[in-house]
Amino acid sequence: MRISLQETAEHLKSGRVAAVPTETVYGLAASLYSDKAIKEVFELKGRPSNNPLIIHVSTLNQITDIALNIPPDFSKLFSEFCPGPLTVVLPINPEMVPSIARAGMLTGAFRIPRHPLALQLIELTGPIVMPSANISGRPSATCAEHVEIDFGSEFPVLDGGRCQCGLESTIITYIDNRWHIIRLGSISAKEFHSVLGYVPTFLQKAESEQPLCPGQLYRHYAPKAKLTLKKSFEVDFKGVIVGFKDRSYPVGAHLHFLGFSNQPLKVAENLYSVLRALDEQSIATAFVDIDIPKEGLWATIFERLFKASN
Ligand code: TXA
Ligand code: MG
Repeated sequence: MRISLQETAEHLKSGRVAAVPTETVYGLAASLYSDKAIKEVFELKGRPSNNPLIIHVSTLNQITDIALNIPPDFSKLFSEFCPGPLTVVLPINPEMVPSIARAGMLTGAFRIPRHPLALQLIELTGPIVMPSANISGRPSATCAEHVEIDFGSEFPVLDGGRCQCGLESTIITYIDNRWHIIRLGSISAKEFHSVLGYVPTFLQKAESEQPLCPGQLYRHYAPKAKLTLKKSFEVDFKGVIVGFKDRSYPVGAHLHFLGFSNQPLKVAENLYSVLRALDEQSIATAFVDIDIPKEGLWATIFERLFKASN
C-alpha cells in the first residue's frame, strides 16, 4: 500500500513501521525512539536480535549528539560522502540509543541517506533505524514492488521509485589509527583514496575475533533459485545464465542480463531485480557469469553474488 510522505512520518511518529526509499535500497523504518516499532522491524524481517540496525539521520549534529568521540578525517569523509551511501560506525553514549537497535553493542552505525524523500522524512521524524526492507537472507528491495512481494500488498510503502545505487551503503570504522571497510558497498574502496590518502582495507574480524559487522555472518542476498558462479560456458551448455548483454553465450542458454560488462554502476542498480526475477519466473537453478574484475564497484558486486550463491 503506497502512502504519502506525511502519512509515513505519522506512521513512524506513532510507533508504527513503514518502508522508505533510499538511494541504495529500500529500508524498513522505525523511529529510533520506539522500542516497540524496532522490535516489530526485527520480527517482520525475521532478523536475528544480535544484528544491529543503522541509525539514519539528516544532520551532522544528530551524529555528534550520540557519538562519543569523532576519529580523525571524519569531517573530510563527511563532506565528501554525506548525504550518500556511506555508513560510519562510531563509539556512542549507549544511553542515547536503545539497546535493541544496537543489539547491545556500544557503537552506533550512522548514515545520512541522499534520497530526497528519505531526507525529508527524517527532517519530520528525527532519527530512524532502517535495515534493508527484505525478509532476512533474501535479495534487498530496490523498488516498492519488491517490498510488497516480501511483506504483502497491504504493507505501507513510501514509493520513491527505483533505487539509484542498487547496492547497500559502504560501512567503515576507525581501528588502530586507520579507517577500514567492514561491509563492501556502493562506494568502492579506491574512492576513499582522494580523501584519506590511502585505500581502506576490507576487515572482517577484529583482533578479538568479534565480528566487526555482525550482519556479515548471515546468509544474504539469496534468491530461492540455486546460483552457481561460473567463469566460462561450454558451447553445449544449456540452462539459465545471468550474464552480460555484450557477451556471447551458448545458443541453448536462457539469458538474464545484469547489463553491460563495462557498466558496473548499471549492473549494481539491476543486480537485486535480476536475482528477484529468477524467483518470479520460478527458476530453480541459474549460473552466473563471474568473469568480472575484482576491484572497484565490481568487488562489491562479486561479494553480493558470492554470498547469494552460498
Ligand atoms: O544502504 C544501506 O545501508 C541500507 C539502507 C536502508 O540504508 N541499510 C542496510 O541495513 O543495509 P542492513 O540492516 O540490511 O545492514 C546493516 C549492516 C548489518 O550488517 C549490521 O550488522 C551492520 O550494518 N551494523 C549496524 N550497526 C552496526 C554497528 N554498531 N557496528 C557494526 N556493524 C553494524
Ligand atoms: Mg540487509
